[in-house]
Amino acid sequence: MPTQNAIAVISDIHSNLEALTAVLKDLKSQEVTEIVCLGDIVGYAADPQHCLKKIRALGCAVVMGNHDEAACLDDHSVYFNANARAGVVFSAAQLAENDKSWLLSLPHDLMIDGITFLHASLDSPEDWNYILSEEDAEAHFFYQSTQLAFCGHTHDPLLWVSRSPQSLPSKFTGEGILSLPGSGKTLVNVGSVGQPRDGDNRACYVIYRPDQNSVEYRRVIYPIEITRQKILKAELPFFTADRLLRGR
Ligand SMILES: [Fe+2]
Repeated sequence: MPTQNAIAVISDIHSNLEALTAVLKDLKSQEVTEIVCLGDIVGYAADPQHCLKKIRALGCAVVMGNHDEAACLDDHSVYFNANARAGVVFSAAQLAENDKSWLLSLPHDLMIDGITFLHASLDSPEDWNYILSEEDAEAHFFYQSTQLAFCGHTHDPLLWVSRSPQSLPSKFTGEGILSLPGSGKTLVNVGSVGQPRDGDNRACYVIYRPDQNSVEYRRVIYPIEITRQKILKAELPFFTADRLLRGR
């Protein structure tokens, strides 16, 4: 029986055109009815403008990521390490003014059909906080008004579950098909399309199926070597190219 509704949630593309192309092809095969992009379209790799063009052409809902913002501001690189800064400076030089205006117009979070979509954390969204600990997740859940939310930012595919405000949230590895809890609050980190950091170098994204109350973590093989060579040719850091092979 065909799925009634399937929402693909993609995040942290980071100018990796080959990974984005592979993911868009994969989600087509999954009868996805809607796509939501959680930001960080640009930064790090060598194809910021092509990735942005592809995402804009989808006409899907998009929230802003910290690298998107940084590439559009004059003092874009102050908060980044050297590798991230190189990618942001490269993206800033490649993007058209129209693309920058569009990126800067994106919201920090969105609510669609009772589900929240965000890049980093609802705890001071403009500070781009990382949800790495139970306490970070607790701070986020304080502001999450919906039962379900999706985020990116850490590039780490996992689920945070808050069963009650009286206890710290629990963390679950994001892999395969997972049933979502029927109560409490859940935050699904969808991992990264263009720069996975969980030791698996395949592109990562999630399909949410509301009628099954489940999320599916999908891993997609893409031609990493092409992306690596483009990064090196653009004189972006070797580390940025090399980490794609390691998925770290
Ligand atoms: Fe990112």
